[in-house]
Amino acid sequence: MTPVLDARDLTFRHHGGAGGLNGVSVTLHRGRRTALLGPNGAGKSTLLLHLNGLVAPSSGEVRLEGRRLTRDAATLAEWRRAVGLVFQHPDDQLFGPTVLADVAMGPRNLGLDDAMADDRARGALAELDLLHLAARPVHALSAGEKRRVALAGVIAMQPAVLLLDEPTAGLDAEAEGRLLDALERLASAGVALLMATHDVELAREWADDVLVLVDGRAVLAGPIDALTPSVMVQARLRRTWTRRRASVPSVQGVVS
Ligand SMILES: Nc1ncnc2c1ncn2[C@@H]1O[C@H](COP(=O)(O)OP(=O)(O)O)[C@@H](O)[C@H]1O
Ligand SMILES: [Mg+2]
Repeated sequence: MTPVLDARDLTFRHHGGAGGLNGVSVTLHRGRRTALLGPNGAGKSTLLLHLNGLVAPSSGEVRLEGRRLTRDAATLAEWRRAVGLVFQHPDDQLFGPTVLADVAMGPRNLGLDDAMADDRARGALAELDLLHLAARPVHALSAGEKRRVALAGVIAMQPAVLLLDEPTAGLDAEAEGRLLDALERLASAGVALLMATHDVELAREWADDVLVLVDGRAVLAGPIDALTPSVMVQARLRRTWTRRRASVPSVQGVVS
């Protein structure tokens, strides 16, 4: 089966020389969930920006449904419509005065009239249990609500591929559950999902496949079961800090 998105040998260096990507490949299939793991600075966000065309690699290519993507305006527009990216920080994504206006902005940019764009936006908000917030000013949302509104804005575009940059960071258990439920429905509907996270437990529970980056290189790409303890150590994904309990002063000592 042709993958919906296929990136080959992406190489990129940030201005200033640090960080980047060194020959990273990733293949996403319809309805499959892929976890993108790696420590801070591994290149996860950089990779996601390449996969929806916001950043051009110095070498390598991205294919959508088998077609190599070029960087002319028409292809870039189609690319960003098909491949949705939910940014790490919702404030980078939210622009509308109200929640409904914000979520309807993308569909309106697709050329839908106001009524149809609002319908799409309401559908995406309902999908995430956010309809009650439709009239709320964006600045009056909690951090968790902002994250889900940002996701609704991308869902409203009905992308074939959804890229999520640490979407569960800062969410409480219930909000995380609602977000993951929504992702399950999208996967069932055939959307290909790629989620950057450093929550290894979540990745194990959620993902079918995994891509592990360290210093801009893929150290593992394969089914999630291939994420062994030795890979986790290599990828610095294992907590190594332990509390030295013997050195803790007694409660009495603290109080007196
Ligand atoms: N715009 C930029 N300019 C220069 N360096 C950057 C830029 N964005 C990211 N980097 C560097 O690239 C590396 C990878 O960053 P990033 O992709 O954000 O990692 P991750 O998302 O895995 O934490 C880091 O060393 C980071 O400091
Ligand atoms: Mg990041």
